[in-house]
Amino acid sequence: MLGAQAAATNNPAPIAVEQATTAKADTNTLHQCVTDNYQRPTLLLEERLLRAKARRFMAAMPRVQPHFAVKCNPIAEILSIFHDEGVRFEIASKKELEQLIEIGVNPKEAFYSNPIKSPEHLQFAVDNGVEWYVVDCIDELNKVYQAKPDAKFYLRLHTSNEGSTFELSSKFGATGSDVSEIIQAAAVLKADLAGVTFHAGSQCLNVQNWVIGIRAARAAFDEMLALGLKPRLLNLGGGYPVELGKPVPSIEEIGAAVNAELTAFPDEVQVIAEPGRFLVADSGHFICRVAGTATRGGQRWLYLDTGFYGGLMEFDDMPYCLRTDRQGELINWRLAGPTCDSIDTFALSYALPADLQADDFVYIESGGAYTNSTASNFNGFDLPDIKII
Ligand SMILES: Cc1ncc(COP(=O)(O)O)c(C=O)c1O
Repeated sequence: MLGAQAAATNNPAPIAVEQATTAKADTNTLHQCVTDNYQRPTLLLEERLLRAKARRFMAAMPRVQPHFAVKCNPIAEILSIFHDEGVRFEIASKKELEQLIEIGVNPKEAFYSNPIKSPEHLQFAVDNGVEWYVVDCIDELNKVYQAKPDAKFYLRLHTSNEGSTFELSSKFGATGSDVSEIIQAAAVLKADLAGVTFHAGSQCLNVQNWVIGIRAARAAFDEMLALGLKPRLLNLGGGYPVELGKPVPSIEEIGAAVNAELTAFPDEVQVIAEPGRFLVADSGHFICRVAGTATRGGQRWLYLDTGFYGGLMEFDDMPYCLRTDRQGELINWRLAGPTCDSIDTFALSYALPADLQADDFVYIESGGAYTNSTASNFNGFDLPDIKII
C-alpha cells in the first residue's frame, strides 16, 4: 500500500484507459486494509482509478481543460494526484484556495465559480492572485469589480437541468433580460467580462443539457462582442455522471456532443469544464459498520455507524450499491445513521441479507464524491477516515 505522500508524488506507469476503467480490483483484499484495523467509517480511494478518470475525461474532450471542483472531495492527496495529471481546479471558498496553495497550485489557474462570494473569501482570492471570477447578477459584478477592477469575469447562465439528478439552476444562473442587463452593466463599467459558463445539473443524464448550454453561451458571446467586450472563455461547468447500477451517458457520448458544438467557437477561445463527481466517485469504497438492528412495527431497521450526517446525504437520490459479507436471504431493511435525528434515515427500503448484525461491515461502492466533503460530526460521531491506496 502506498502512503498518501508517496501516492501523490509517484509517477506510475501510464494506465491504459480501457484497462483502468473496466478492470475490477480484488475488492476483498482492498477492503481488508480497512477492516483489519477498523476505527471509524473510512473512504478508501484507489489512486490508479483517480488517474484513469482524469485521463479518460481529457481523451473524450481534447479541447477542454478540466478544472476539478474541489468541493467534491478536497483531500490534499486527491488534489495532488489530479495536479500531477494536468487537471486544474475550480474553487468555491477561501479554504479551498488555501488547500490548493498548500499543494503548490498557482492561483492564477484557479476559477472562482461560486456565484456569491463572501467578502472575506473574495478578498483572500484577490490578495492571492486569483484572476477569474464568476458572476450571475449585477450586485456581484459590482462587488467583485470593486475588490478587483482588473478581474476576468465569466457570466453564469441559467440553462436546462432537465434529466439531472441534482438540479442547480433554481439557485444560480442569469436568465431572460437579466443576461443582457449584466452584459450591458459590464460594458458600461468597462469590466473585462471575458466568458460564459453554465451547469448542466449534477449527475446529469441528459446530454442535451450541454448542447443547450453551449448554444446559449454562443448567443451570449455574440451579445458581448456587439458591445465591444472580448469574450474568450467557455466554461462547460460540471455534471458529468458516474454509473451506479443504472446506465448513464458515457463521457465519450457527452464528449462527442460537446466536441461537435465547440466548432462554433474559434480556436482562440479557451474551453474548460469543472467535473467533480465524474473524477472521484467510482474510485472510492466507503466502508462502514452496522451499529445495531431493530424491529419496529414489523419493519427491520439497520442502523449504520455513518449516515446522512456522516457523508451519505445524497443516498436518497443516488442508486448506491451496498455489499456485505453475509449470505442470508435478502429482506427489505430501512437504513438509518447513528444520530438521534430522524432526518438521518436515508433509505426506506433496501434489500440486504436478513442475518446482518451489529459490527458487520457494509461496503458502499462508488462513494468517492460528496461523502467525506459533506460529512459533519453532529452528535459527536467521527468524520470518515480517508485512505488512498
Ligand atoms: C460551480 C460548480 N462547478 C462544478 C461543480 C461540480 O459538479 P459535478 O460534481 O456534478 O461535476 C459544482 C457542483 O455543485 C458547482 O457548483
